[in-house]
Amino acid sequence: MAKKSTLVLTHRPRRLRRQPSRRALVEETVIRAADLIAPLFVVDGKGAPEPIGSMPGVNRFNITDLVKECQELYDLGVPAVALFPKLDASLKDATGTEALNPKTLILRAVRAVKQAVPGLSIITDVALDPYTSHGHDGVLNAALDDVENDRTVAILCEMAVMQAEAGVDFVAPSDMMDGRVGAIRQALDAAGYTDTAILAYSAKYNSAYYGPFRDAVGSAKAAGTRLLSKATYQMNPANRREAIREVLLDVAEGADVVMVKPAGLYLDIIREVRNATNLPVAAYQISGEYAQIHAAAKLGWLDLARCRDESLLAIKRAGADMILTYFAKEVAQKLKV
Ligand code: PBG
Repeated sequence: MAKKSTLVLTHRPRRLRRQPSRRALVEETVIRAADLIAPLFVVDGKGAPEPIGSMPGVNRFNITDLVKECQELYDLGVPAVALFPKLDASLKDATGTEALNPKTLILRAVRAVKQAVPGLSIITDVALDPYTSHGHDGVLNAALDDVENDRTVAILCEMAVMQAEAGVDFVAPSDMMDGRVGAIRQALDAAGYTDTAILAYSAKYNSAYYGPFRDAVGSAKAAGTRLLSKATYQMNPANRREAIREVLLDVAEGADVVMVKPAGLYLDIIREVRNATNLPVAAYQISGEYAQIHAAAKLGWLDLARCRDESLLAIKRAGADMILTYFAKEVAQKLKV
């Protein structure tokens, strides 16, 4: 005989949580390796992997090691990587000239990865910050107090075409200039790259959590400050409706995938974007989100694996179809066993 209960309840939601098998049956959100995109940093030369202090477990790889890492990710079922170059400071100048060098590091890296792991999708950023001495995503105006939109877009179009030529699957404008998605689409099509897709950083916020990434690509150091303000082009964290405006513009201009960035602090935006478009939605769990979890775990204050998994689940549950995350490899490894 079942024991008599005191409350007379029609609904007892806990019934479905009674044991693991019941919980499994009613689980709504599942993370697959195929949902993940691994951001990877590349450096020139033949040096050993360079650890990034503020991003435990993340390294800058030389091209040979990058190719190996990409092969491992692909074998683990991770379908895509987002590649970021870290350039020597001597290659940076005010207009980011190196970005248009046909032999620049990122293009050599893309070719090497494409050749070795052709099935893996490659995503590359279209923005000038790894190339400029001031660390901004574009070229500055005459007064040197703002990034000049249209002149920057013209350079981004050239960058995108060169990346497409090198074989990337997605170009990812991360600069937040107005009109760049449409201009890049036209430039790609005019050059014959109608199959190169655009993953648009559509709602990219002016976040304080990009700090570790700027260490990784050296853009903060170039600018001489970790507090570089990108407030005239990246979005104000206070704004929600504006994110939808930005997303709908990018959709109209020809984006194939729209992105929200950062992810964990912007779950409401991910959900709004999910509801506003039928395009796939990407979310970028950025360097500061990753660093926070690691820092708290190192102090013994949070459990790394559980926080990692919960953070990714929350992003997917909010509506993201794909997640850029520095946890991609370890999560894919865990899913494989
Ligand atoms: C630059 C770019 C940034 C990131 C990706 N592309 C930083 C920035 O806008 O300053 C951040 C990624 C991260 O923090 O993990 N265009």
